[in-house]
Amino acid sequence: MTIAERPVHGPVPPVPGSGLPVLIQGGMGVGVSGWRLARAVARTGQLGVVSGVALDVTLARRLQQGDPGGHLRAALAAFPVPAISERILARYYVHGGIAPGVPYRPVPRLGLRPNRARDELAVAANFAEVFLARRDGGPVGINYLEKIQMATPAAAYGAMLAGVDFVLMGAGIPSQIPGLLDRLAAHMPGEVSVTVAGAEAGERHTVGIDPAAVLGRAATAEPLARPRLLAIVSSDVLAAYLARTPETRPDGFVVETPVAGGHSAPPRGRMRLDDTEQPVYGPRDEANLGKIAALGLPFWLAGGYASRDGVARARAAGAAGVQVGTAFALCRESGLDDKQRRRLLERAGAGALRVRNDPHASPAGFPFKVAGLEETLAEAEVYERRPRLCDLGHLRTPYVRPEGGVGFRCPAEPVDAYLRKGGRAEETDGRRCLCNGLVAAIGLGQHRPDGYEEQPLLTLGQDLDFLARLPEGYGAADVVAHLLGDADPRGTRVGH
Ligand SMILES: Cc1cc2nc3c(=O)[nH]c(=O)nc-3n(C[C@H](O)[C@H](O)[C@H](O)COP(=O)(O)O)c2cc1C
Repeated sequence: MTIAERPVHGPVPPVPGSGLPVLIQGGMGVGVSGWRLARAVARTGQLGVVSGVALDVTLARRLQQGDPGGHLRAALAAFPVPAISERILARYYVHGGIAPGVPYRPVPRLGLRPNRARDELAVAANFAEVFLARRDGGPVGINYLEKIQMATPAAAYGAMLAGVDFVLMGAGIPSQIPGLLDRLAAHMPGEVSVTVAGAEAGERHTVGIDPAAVLGRAATAEPLARPRLLAIVSSDVLAAYLARTPETRPDGFVVETPVAGGHSAPPRGRMRLDDTEQPVYGPRDEANLGKIAALGLPFWLAGGYASRDGVARARAAGAAGVQVGTAFALCRESGLDDKQRRRLLERAGAGALRVRNDPHASPAGFPFKVAGLEETLAEAEVYERRPRLCDLGHLRTPYVRPEGGVGFRCPAEPVDAYLRKGGRAEETDGRRCLCNGLVAAIGLGQHRPDGYEEQPLLTLGQDLDFLARLPEGYGAADVVAHLLGDADPRGTRVGH
């Protein structure tokens, strides 16, 4: 009997002899898979993944909330260059926390040129998140979005300083990341080229980090461990493209179906919408797993695999295992604001939660799963009440300004500003400010000086069947046990 055919009963160890996990807890940004969740999963021996998206913002805001428990201050105390931690604490830490309703201080925005304050914050924030996730042992990964290119070099370097084992990258084609990780492991300057709208053919724009310039020579003497890169893809064509040369080849793939939470690849060809205004996917959108297996790299299946049967099906298809998101997003250790998490569980438990694949919501231009919860940006009235404002800007993209130089724009920013920057009106339709909405969903929403309070936007996957099989008030370890064996027989359903 092969591994794939073996029935999944009893605890499943990591893939024998490979050091690879069977289960990956998916990276969920912003902050839904924080260090608490990743640590709880890593402790079981499976792969815990922190989201690496916007950690500069979440670190700065948590310090302004007074850092209850002192975890972030403990992580910053372990950062190799104390002067950097001191500068960050001096700028953002507020003893006892800011008063309710007081706006958070801004953090420097992403850009193409080096900026000391911004790079220090990104490196230290990524270090802190991975440092805390690794505290109880077990493998830890970090998830980035290729689409947010300008953040990647500094963020990845920070995570590597804390010894991250895996980097997972979705929402784009991470062909430059293998080389970036190689260079950063040797503390060499690393850069990636950045897509700039309107740039001439042959014109190259880059963003990078020079570790020695940011940290100094002493902190960059010993080489770092080079994490393994898993590319998140939805098609065998993209997997084959990445695998074809050593320069672009990742160390494995996560193959995601469109029901997975967060962003999804659009359907191939012209986008068609059904009568509920959701993209229509067909057989052409199904990745050919035989072709992916033939590439010879380990892979995991994601999107609707949160069951023992899902694990068995994945193994039967030659996968090392599965990546699961939603079941972890709703568990006790999730970074979601507790009130929102309980509301989601209640609605889902009553069979009344709809998760739409919204083709317009994300400024990134990819379909994005929006959980239909009242009093969130999923509701048209709540969305329309929000005066457009772009004050975080992680999803801004660079463009060539007619007067010269590079500017930045986001289709969710105020429409007149976007049009002035050469953007098209139809691109602004229905766009949600994901930056502010997702940050509000983890309890870090901004209070604007005019009194407006940012409202949450919640994403989940579309497969919620696992809920009926998990115990009430379940935690991350229950999800692992449920999927891999050793399940708690007491649990039958969830309802909080
Ligand atoms: C709340 C939430 C946020 C997510 N954010 C990201 C993200 O930032 N980057 C990413 O690559 N995948 C993201 N995902 C996808 C998960 O990592 C995972 O692949 C997916 O949820 C698996 O499908 P499942 O939810 O059916 O288990 C997110 C999923 C959820 C539920």
